[in-house]
Amino acid sequence: MPMTRDDPFGIYVHWPFCKAKCPYCDFSSHVRHGGIDEERFLAAYLTELRHFAGRAPGRTVTSIFFGGGTPSLMHPRTVAAILDAIAGHWGVSEGAEITLEANPTSVEAENFAGYAAAGVNRLSLGIQALDDSSLKALGRQHTADEALAALDLAKQNFDRVSFDLIYAREGQTLSDWKDELARALEHATDHLSLYQLTIEDGTPFAARHEAGHLRVPDNDKASAMYALTQELCDTAGLPAYEISNHARPGSESRHNLLYWRGHDYAGIGAGAHARISEGGTKRALSMLKSPEDWLAQVKTAGHGLSSEEPLSAQEVADEYLLMALRLAEGMDLARFTALSGHAIDETHLAALAGDGLVARNGERLMATRSGRLVLERLILELAA
Ligand SMILES: C[S@@+](CC[C@H](N)C(=O)[O-])C[C@H]1O[C@@H](n2cnc3c(N)ncnc32)[C@H](O)[C@@H]1O
Ligand code: SF4
Repeated sequence: MPMTRDDPFGIYVHWPFCKAKCPYCDFSSHVRHGGIDEERFLAAYLTELRHFAGRAPGRTVTSIFFGGGTPSLMHPRTVAAILDAIAGHWGVSEGAEITLEANPTSVEAENFAGYAAAGVNRLSLGIQALDDSSLKALGRQHTADEALAALDLAKQNFDRVSFDLIYAREGQTLSDWKDELARALEHATDHLSLYQLTIEDGTPFAARHEAGHLRVPDNDKASAMYALTQELCDTAGLPAYEISNHARPGSESRHNLLYWRGHDYAGIGAGAHARISEGGTKRALSMLKSPEDWLAQVKTAGHGLSSEEPLSAQEVADEYLLMALRLAEGMDLARFTALSGHAIDETHLAALAGDGLVARNGERLMATRSGRLVLERLILELAA
């Protein structure tokens, strides 16, 4: 099933810097107390964009996502220059979704109007918690009031605003989360990302957890919090369209849907990833993680690639399965068959359906609520 020029095509821009490193986070992000030469980084972003333009000519950009790290530390004119360069290399579809991830400190909120003027039309705010003691425990640089003020300002500047919360935090009870989520839903517009705290290897949280100094809700409590999340969000008209993402129907993040539906995207900046189809082969590309190494290589080679792998038909199909089963709409079995050259065994599917882990609607296969709780196991079984 070759990619066609009409398929969605996204551009991911990674800004790999943060003011401080949150102790739970293992995203590709770095703190530079000495400051960042933003002009030099911009020049490198524009060079790397040219590289991708040469590898994905004639595509129409349907979404752009500034992620991080903390892209709200970028000057609005840097964002504007990147958006102008994208529009110079590719056609950009009418009404393309252009999202920027922001941290809700008051300093960053001052940039919102500038981002909107640059063309950003969707803001995703990392609020994480609605009380100051939890924010402190998460190592955040903002208070709850500051975050809510940033949310109000975001609503004034952008038609589409989403925010993130993390639940199953240290000491949080089911009833704490119920109250917090109810408050969050009062502030929500059309999209919310609600992540269960993951203890990521190599983070300060992992070290404290291993030493027995960080007590997070056990699996049963966390599953109850997940179930409650579905219930409250369904009632509020923001059902989950992906494991952790909730939206009013029609307000889903089109850029994130593009990943989960297995479409192509360019990715620029240190630590970014990309999937590009060339001559019928999909390739997985990764940029160097160190911002300084990335900068130096872009200057000499015109790109910051650290690896580039052609994916086999089976790898493309398995990646599609892995991503699409995260979605409420599920996966298209016919597409999996076309990608891999073989169908998933029907008796295997029937057995998983019998166990209540998957549901079938014609050619679509969805993980049920119980299936989503054991999604990793389910995916491994189906991809085998
Ligand atoms: C790329 S991150 C951060 C964006 C922005 N820098 C911020 O902190 O608000 C995107 C989201 O991932 C979530 N996240 C990061 N690490 C997590 C973890 N260990 N467990 C659960 N959610 C996490 C947070 O909700 C965060 O807003
Ligand atoms: S959660 Fe956001 S601000 Fe905190 S370290 Fe990760 S990317 Fe940076």
